[in-house]
Amino acid sequence: MKIAVLRESRPFERRVALVPESCQKLIKSGFAVGVETGAGLRAGYSDEAYQESGATVESAVEGLVRSANLLLTVNAPENDADNARRVITWMRDGAFVLGSLMPLRNLSDIESLAESGAVAFSTDAIPRTTRAQSMDTLSSMNSIAGYKGVLLAAAELGKYFPMLSSAAGTVFPAKVFVIGAAVAGLQALATAKRLGASVTATDVRPEVKEQIESVGGKYVGIELTEDASAGGGYAKELSEEDQARQREMLVEQVARSDVVITTALIGGVFAPTLVTAEMVASMQPGSVLVDLAADGGGNCELSSPGETIEAHGVRILAPLNLASTMPDHASLLFSRNLTNFLEAFSEEGEFKLDLEDEIQVGCLITRGGEIVHERTREAVTKHKEGSSP
Ligand code: NAI
Repeated sequence: MKIAVLRESRPFERRVALVPESCQKLIKSGFAVGVETGAGLRAGYSDEAYQESGATVESAVEGLVRSANLLLTVNAPENDADNARRVITWMRDGAFVLGSLMPLRNLSDIESLAESGAVAFSTDAIPRTTRAQSMDTLSSMNSIAGYKGVLLAAAELGKYFPMLSSAAGTVFPAKVFVIGAAVAGLQALATAKRLGASVTATDVRPEVKEQIESVGGKYVGIELTEDASAGGGYAKELSEEDQARQREMLVEQVARSDVVITTALIGGVFAPTLVTAEMVASMQPGSVLVDLAADGGGNCELSSPGETIEAHGVRILAPLNLASTMPDHASLLFSRNLTNFLEAFSEEGEFKLDLEDEIQVGCLITRGGEIVHERTREAVTKHKEGSSP
């Protein structure tokens, strides 16, 4: 089977889906790999490195897509009518697509993919099981976001993170508060701790208390009147009563923090508003808030996704696609995740569709001209109902 890897065409995207190390591995397993000229350059992977790995480097994108059975991609492939890259149109009927398609945030791209007859898997929908862990691109990318988010905060803050004793006297460590302590939040905590900050975190799933403490953080939380777990490790929206009680706790914690990092998501997709404008106003001027949930709309009422603003003397950063700002390691880890997926389900360079396998079924989004992923199908129907006159 031939794999195609293209240069990502979305603005600000620097990652590449497959790095030379993985090409070599997949070629050894029997696949052929074709890579578009310059596909890895923005991530630090040269055409020569791909050639050395055994891949072919091809400048004719249309020919490359038409010749492939499997497209590996970071983002959902696009088919913009004004765009010379009509990737979806060029794909073979029944071609496999594997990447971080973010189906619930890219409904129209997913509809086009379905219409093309593609068999598309989204690594974001991979079940969060032990067996699937090595294929989980969300974890790899969220971990980078947590790390990078703290570095951005440290660069913005007019204070040291660590305690420092000098001839001019002692300064005390910065107080960092993390809201949402799954993959991104725990990495943010660990990174802030390594920089010497005093770190505190909260989450609505009580089981994370131990994880927060294991990376040196202090847990703060409220006793919930209703369970906030939605299964699969995801949280659901809190009841109104619990939201009010959580707000009281957040008012206190946000006001005393130099840095607030927010990472909270519902169902892994949408961001609840947790930090109000009033809470921001209670922070000391010069404090920093980094909203890592900006891709899902943001956890802070004042966040403007993709921008940095200042309100009440507080810098509010709401960066999008932070993983792409560390494109070398982001691509390396992403590529290893995709390779683990392919290797788990292939024999002698042939990927096998297995509708009995819980991982494949969990992340299969389109097949046979249809959207087969239930949550995505429901979202598309809802979207159409909402947009019809
Ligand atoms: P996520 O990005 O979906 O959510 C971030 C965090 O926000 C969650 O911990 C959630 O509980 C929290 N949150 C939601 N509403 C909140 C609120 N009102 N206040 C405070 N916090 C709130 O999380 P991610 O990183 O995608 O992980 C989701 C789950 O999957 C976790 O349980 C994680 O341990 C698990 N997981 C399992 C893997 C595996 O076994 N293969 C791999 C990665 C994650």
